[in-house]
Amino acid sequence: MSTVLRQHAEQQFSQELEELKKQDPHKIPQNWQLSPQAVVSYLMGDKLNNGFQLTPKYIGNRRLMEIAVATLTTDRALLLYGLPGTAKSWVSEHLAAAISGDSTLLVQGTAGTGEEAIRYGWNYARLLSTGPTPEALVETPMMRAMKAGKIARVEELTRIGSDVQDSLITILSEKSLPVPELNTEVQAVTGFNVIATANNRDKGVNELSSALKRRFNTVILPVPDSMEEEVEIVQQRVKSFSQHMALPIEKPITEEIRRIVTIFRELRSGVSMDGKNKLKSPSGTLSTAEAISVMNSGLSLSHHFGDGSLTAHDLASGVLGAVVKDPVQDKIVWQEYLETVVKQREGWKDLYRSCRDMM
Ligand SMILES: Nc1ncnc2c1ncn2[C@@H]1O[C@H](COP(=O)(O)OP(=O)(O)OP(=O)(O)O)[C@@H](O)[C@H]1O
Ligand SMILES: [Mg+2]
Repeated sequence: MSTVLRQHAEQQFSQELEELKKQDPHKIPQNWQLSPQAVVSYLMGDKLNNGFQLTPKYIGNRRLMEIAVATLTTDRALLLYGLPGTAKSWVSEHLAAAISGDSTLLVQGTAGTGEEAIRYGWNYARLLSTGPTPEALVETPMMRAMKAGKIARVEELTRIGSDVQDSLITILSEKSLPVPELNTEVQAVTGFNVIATANNRDKGVNELSSALKRRFNTVILPVPDSMEEEVEIVQQRVKSFSQHMALPIEKPITEEIRRIVTIFRELRSGVSMDGKNKLKSPSGTLSTAEAISVMNSGLSLSHHFGDGSLTAHDLASGVLGAVVKDPVQDKIVWQEYLETVVKQREGWKDLYRSCRDMM
């Protein structure tokens, strides 16, 4: 039997969601699967009364998740905003999974996203043969979410052109989607709401129109505060990756994670941990998500082409790839960092040598 490469959150965590549902003492909003309190427990992790352990999905400020969930109980939509790799999509998926039991009602925003991807489209063969009929209409995830009283997700909202973004306005303020061709409308059922994500860093993003801005509550997801928090995020995601991909972790890798996170945090902030060296920052964002990828590819290299225990040698190529996005500028930044920080640091000689060899 073949397995899917990536399960939706509601499949992967179905047991947690079941257990929570069984013993949710709070009032559940109409068409929600869980109470707002239980949704936050699912996101932040918790131990249930019967001892069942919920794993944390979001690692960070609990209050942010409370605000996000509370917003979704109101008539305002939720915008998760922030730098790349700060778990916006991840949180959006888990929110939809916990609230609606369905994270798949998704519109992916791109420069090419047209109104028909948000409102509805037509099956042209049918349209030509029968004219505009309900059967010829192609529903979008947005329309299906409205009908079912579920959460619709819009990924990368600001990549969508401003005129198309505005097609969300009627949906969000009137909670209805007019279909003039059929002389009807779809009215959203209780439970319907929208979670959008957007990042403020990438090239090619549009402004969020101010009319639309007023219809969203914005929650800004920050870069992890502390080193400890970021190490924990990476550790947890790498563990789940290694289980899923059947790449055993043969010796503890916390120290290696710590080194990668240190490098990322120092280059991001432009100063070494001891505060002694000012550093240039590379052009990329060096997000937590990239730190996770560096560890994952290191694990794969060590498993398939090494002796199974993760070494600096396995991590060097990943780090280089994450830091050097611009082959000229970033290379200079990286070289300087290697010489002034990595080379001098106690116990980092192996990493220095491996990185040097990769240049
Ligand atoms: N605070 C956090 N808690 C838990 N996981 C996190 C956190 N920050 C980042 N991650 C992990 O980082 C990975 C990438 O996150 P995600 O794709 O959601 O980022 P994003 O904010 O949507 O980025 P982009 O702007 O590039 O779309 C996920 O696997 C997620 O688990
Ligand atoms: Mg995203």
